[in-house]
Amino acid sequence: MKPIKKAVFPVAGMGTRFLPATKANPKEMLPVVDKPLIQYAAEEAVAAGIDTLIFVTGRNKRSIEDHFDTAYELERELEERNKEKMLRIVREILPPEVKCVFIRQSEALGLGHAVLCAKPVVGDEPFAVILADDLINSNEKPVLSQMVDVYNYQHCSVLGVQEVPMEEVHQYGVVDAQSSSDRVYEVKGMVEKPAQADAPSNLAVVGRYILTPKLFDLLETQERGAGNEIQLTDAIARLLGSQRVLAYNFVGKRFDCGSKLGYLQAQVEYALAHEEVNEEFRDYLMSLDLGLIDRRKAANG
Ligand code: UTP
Repeated sequence: MKPIKKAVFPVAGMGTRFLPATKANPKEMLPVVDKPLIQYAAEEAVAAGIDTLIFVTGRNKRSIEDHFDTAYELERELEERNKEKMLRIVREILPPEVKCVFIRQSEALGLGHAVLCAKPVVGDEPFAVILADDLINSNEKPVLSQMVDVYNYQHCSVLGVQEVPMEEVHQYGVVDAQSSSDRVYEVKGMVEKPAQADAPSNLAVVGRYILTPKLFDLLETQERGAGNEIQLTDAIARLLGSQRVLAYNFVGKRFDCGSKLGYLQAQVEYALAHEEVNEEFRDYLMSLDLGLIDRRKAANG
């Protein structure tokens, strides 16, 4: 099996849960403290040995391209003002050997369709998919590196999963799986956004995939599923007919930054760990008088 060298970042969704912030900007450009979500995802990929980042973009693609491109004017300004630290930050967004490719998904037909758009660049190789709005903080290895370890050992598709409360399974792709070894499960089936009563387990796929190129053939003939979209989950469920697929219950804390609450939780936790602001931010949080805030809210109706 070939090594995992390419990662696909589908960033062409509508981001409706974050309107109006996502009216002119993809949600993956929303910052957590000082870095956009897409940069955390790109760093995770690079740490896992990926050398080609493939962004599947939609109507608001400019800012993502600009973020990973050289910003000559900004660099010149910073140079002239001797802002060495800032200059390093903008120059070192990605290591020089990492390539970025941008592909347009002309219509938001679903995550499965977005991944299929990357086929001409991925070719006949296994590849990773990262959903940048699932921000995962791991004190051990970054999550994609953990999954690449599983792939290198098992040589098959690997899905990043997490246990979620049963009341939330309807928001996710859920696997029917059998525990095989520590944190690794053999996937027997998969269903996108099941009703709680129909869910085969509470193991939900969350934003990290390692997939074999056979998946592209299946996506090409994949019919629309939940939400009338071409679902990645449905194609992976069909992949099970011909190939082994594993689920890996990763080590790490995940923030659903596609939702307002998850995004705010990420801001708080990343700020509390941020070397520049952590102490002052902690003091600020400790000083908050929640009772007073509640009373003000009540007074304002
Ligand atoms: P979501 O299900 O989070 O949808 O997509 P969304 O449109 O981004 O957000 P909401 O629900 O309207 O707020 C999961 C991932 O798939 C990408 C999104 O960018 C996100 O990373 N996606 C989804 C595409 O790239 N293209 C699509 O057609 C649909």
